[in-house]
Amino acid sequence: MELFLDTGNVEEIKELVDILQVDGVTTNPTIVSRSGKRFTDLIKEISDIVGEDRAIHCQVVSRDFDGMIEEAEFINGLHKNIYVKIPVTHQGLKAIKELTKRGIKTTATAVFTAHQATLAAKAGAKYIAPYVNRLDNISGNGVSVVKQIINIIEKHNFDSKVLAASFKNAQQVIEIIEHGVHSVTVPTDVLDKMTCHPLTDYSVDKFIEDWENAYGEGIKTTD
Ligand code: G3P
Repeated sequence: MELFLDTGNVEEIKELVDILQVDGVTTNPTIVSRSGKRFTDLIKEISDIVGEDRAIHCQVVSRDFDGMIEEAEFINGLHKNIYVKIPVTHQGLKAIKELTKRGIKTTATAVFTAHQATLAAKAGAKYIAPYVNRLDNISGNGVSVVKQIINIIEKHNFDSKVLAASFKNAQQVIEIIEHGVHSVTVPTDVLDKMTCHPLTDYSVDKFIEDWENAYGEGIKTTD
């Protein structure tokens, strides 16, 4: 299973790439705009941190086919292992089909139904990114849509991976992982909730207290 960071905060990316086994970074126009940086500067900074083997997913902002293709060609040159995110609209599907023909890797994004996912996979998208929390927010069931998409991709042997996105809590993430999702992209606040537990902190404190009461110092490593 792949783990991506859904953020454009370079300090967070630096820290988390150091701590966790991270497979790449996903951005979108909102994430880029929040960074306050020039688009190309931000992608360069992220690229320098993650290295050329980890993936970066970067989104187009045009709505029309020609604009999407032009932006995708540009984005494709920004990093060695890059996926161009294309929203699944009519124009987007057409662009995914064309970019696949040109050998440019795409991530079909803003996916909310299994129907959209199926058509994007058929068009050649390498990743399909369904938005879990945005569905939950409108009384949908994001987790169950993702499960349905995974089943379809696997049953039909599509050459696409499911990259579940838009998470607001750790429960959404783990339910999807339990179902065998190929990849998740997680914002750093949710990753923090996945990492930390008060009982872990309590246990570590108690272990160290007991050790120090008995030996007064750490393990002697120079015996
Ligand atoms: O990367 C796109 C996706 O994760 C959007 O997330 O939190 O804006 O719904 P959010």
